[in-house]
Amino acid sequence: MRCLLFLASLGLVAAENGLDGWLRYASLPCSHQCQSKLPASIMLLNVTETSPVYAAGSEIQDGLKRIYGAHAQISQIQCKTSSSTVVVGTVEQYRKTCGSSSEIPELEEDGFWLSTEGPKIRILGSTESGALYGAFEYLSMLAQGNLSEVSYATNPSAPIRWVNQWDNMDGTIERGYGGPSIFFNNGAIVDDLTRVKQYARLLASIRINAVVVNNVNANATLLTPENLKGLGRIADVFRPYGIKVGISLNFASPETLGGLDTFDPLDPSVISWWSNITEQVYQHVPDMAGYLVKADSEGQPGPQTYNRTLSDGANLFARAVHPYGGIVMFRAFVYNQLNESNWTEDRANAAVNFFKDLDGEFDDNVVVQIKYGPIDFQVREPASPLFANLLNTSTAMELEVTQEYLGQQSHLVYLPPLWKTVLDFDLRVDGKPSLVRDVYTGKRFKRKLGGSAAVVNVGTNTTWLGSHLSMSNLYAYGRLAWNPTDDSQTMLQDWIRLTFGLDRTVLNTITKMSMESWPAYEGYSGNLGIQTLTDILYTHYGPNPASQDNNGWGQWTRADHIGIGMDRTVSNGTGFSGQYPDEVAAMYESIDTTPDDLLLWFHHVNYTHRLHSGKTVIQHFYDAHYTGAATAQTFFTQWESLKGKIDDERYNHVLRLLDYQSGHSIIWRDAINNFYYNLSGIPDTANRVNHHSWRIEAENMKLDGYKTYTVSPFETASGSMAIVTTSNETVGTATTKINFASGTYDLAVNYYDAYGGQSQWQVYLNDNLVGEWVGNGEDVYSHTTSIYLDGHSAIRIKFRGVEVKNGDTLKIVGKPDGIEPAPLDYVSFLPEGIVD
Ligand code: GCU
Repeated sequence: MRCLLFLASLGLVAAENGLDGWLRYASLPCSHQCQSKLPASIMLLNVTETSPVYAAGSEIQDGLKRIYGAHAQISQIQCKTSSSTVVVGTVEQYRKTCGSSSEIPELEEDGFWLSTEGPKIRILGSTESGALYGAFEYLSMLAQGNLSEVSYATNPSAPIRWVNQWDNMDGTIERGYGGPSIFFNNGAIVDDLTRVKQYARLLASIRINAVVVNNVNANATLLTPENLKGLGRIADVFRPYGIKVGISLNFASPETLGGLDTFDPLDPSVISWWSNITEQVYQHVPDMAGYLVKADSEGQPGPQTYNRTLSDGANLFARAVHPYGGIVMFRAFVYNQLNESNWTEDRANAAVNFFKDLDGEFDDNVVVQIKYGPIDFQVREPASPLFANLLNTSTAMELEVTQEYLGQQSHLVYLPPLWKTVLDFDLRVDGKPSLVRDVYTGKRFKRKLGGSAAVVNVGTNTTWLGSHLSMSNLYAYGRLAWNPTDDSQTMLQDWIRLTFGLDRTVLNTITKMSMESWPAYEGYSGNLGIQTLTDILYTHYGPNPASQDNNGWGQWTRADHIGIGMDRTVSNGTGFSGQYPDEVAAMYESIDTTPDDLLLWFHHVNYTHRLHSGKTVIQHFYDAHYTGAATAQTFFTQWESLKGKIDDERYNHVLRLLDYQSGHSIIWRDAINNFYYNLSGIPDTANRVNHHSWRIEAENMKLDGYKTYTVSPFETASGSMAIVTTSNETVGTATTKINFASGTYDLAVNYYDAYGGQSQWQVYLNDNLVGEWVGNGEDVYSHTTSIYLDGHSAIRIKFRGVEVKNGDTLKIVGKPDGIEPAPLDYVSFLPEGIVD
């Protein structure tokens, strides 16, 4: 113990791989007074080993030992004990055993009461899950060094607090960046469910009560007898943690799996097929949470094939699960391909168009699951107006923890501030306060069901999501599902203390970086509500603004050489603004009252249009991209200041990602600025765009074994050109004389790291090796890779503090590998403080 205290006080920290997430129970010093506050025993009101109360007891025992080195025995309940103890169970169990207790407040379903006053600490839930949540709350306090006396009750905002995993049966995960599935492999359920148990602990600690294990683009083979057995095993692992399992269904299963010649939801053979399958599902998983259904969306089959309504489709499943108490989460993400030449067509209109008239037609156990914005998890969207149009239907908010459009975990983006723009938005239904969070939690329209679901997509990577810092998003999601009014920074700081310890510098630094991260990302990606501007036709990762338009996907920007933005007004556009209740509709209908940050979502304006801020649209784009990328540079240096305060393993992992982000933010900045400069022809008043005083383009160097290459999209290469080796076997050399003043520079080399080869590069100054590296980004970063030279594969490496003399010769040698021709874009010699 003393040895541990000594290490802790020195700030030395053991290597960690992230597997424990925020449940590390890292060792903390404990004074005599602190020791006196720790319970000597743990009394469980249910000692069945598979019960959440038992799981709570084990967690407390383990946590006390790991945090404070304290040994608490699990013992029989003694109501009148005077020795220090912690009692865990349900209120009912407590009353039965110890008689009535008037101090315990009324609790709602899954709520708990935590009282650490006096020698007897009581953690009592209205349900066993509630008791487990209370135990994790107590442990969260202990792990943050908080031994204060508290007594309070807390209740969930809503009964649905789910996560969705988009795991495929072959073990891949759609939009997953943390490795392969923890559930599936090769068409079956994996044998070893150890990671599932660890996931269950993490989810229970943030009060998640159900997990949908398979992709919404569902494969019917999950319903085979063998796989249902496996599903039963998964459910057995989650159950002690109070978490139920749900599954995504493929609407056409009666035909594709069942061999029927129809999947018409009103056909009696289809109805009985589903009721039969549902019976089998419940045989294996008697407490199955319910079904998640993506129908008539993005090529998925649905009721519309048979001219049936979406509610016909949803109710088919609702009736099948009803006898077992299950629910159906029916996704509102339904839209068709559209024609951009029609000024009034708009994908954003789709959800309300499809669902509004069905309000009241859904069975009581159906919940319509609605993405936060009308398009698709973009960097900023207005709140989905569907929340204001379903007054007689239960709804759930769908968020995305996995950063599909937002940097795919290779960029730090703390998401709650983005989510809050929607959760806290007042829709003013019937002219009355109607915060989105009050709608989906059921308060505003008095619905019993409701809540939230987040697409999480953890994988087998020990970091779970691909990056340690991204776990703050999962943690905060759970907190918001419980209480959507929780403050973004407060949640973040709890997570930081639990994940990285109590050092104040660590706390302040990660707080600052994280709170700056979404604004920075919005700054260097898509501004003013134009959407993220990532490549929507390929990886959803790097910049490609042109991919938004001239296709049927309807994520249009309508950018031409004069103006940009979607006219979504009723008076002259798609009519989308009219889907909101009157007050909100009026605000968005007029340019004068539309907030700048959503201007281009609602209006088509000239690049020279002046914002409320006084800037023109185009200058705002330029400035925001420079500011955003400049902020991203500081994440690396901020993190560097934490060296020695965080274990090396996690420190280095994060450092590498932030270094990468600093480079990729510049690729974003330049791509978007060049694209709109090229389109509008309007120069940057600060003269930065397209002027790079510190760069030397690779295509301007002397080339041997290298040739020039025109990159597409053009804006993802500096000067639109790069160089590649003349063949896949030829080693290329690019040389140039340096004309900068002698001094110390950071040398940045921009190159492309494509999938399909691991090229090698070496950079020399006067034949002295400055650095060398391998194009192995596909093994190192979490984002989706690209086989092309583009905004996804574009990457920068930096060599810091390089001594350079005017007249020196720079030489880069590139050795191709596989299909990757050792591509190079440019080098920058950066004096201190310059970002170029
Ligand atoms: C996005 C995502 C898809 C996903 C879809 C959905 O479009 O890119 O991978 O299937 O959303 O939410 O259903």
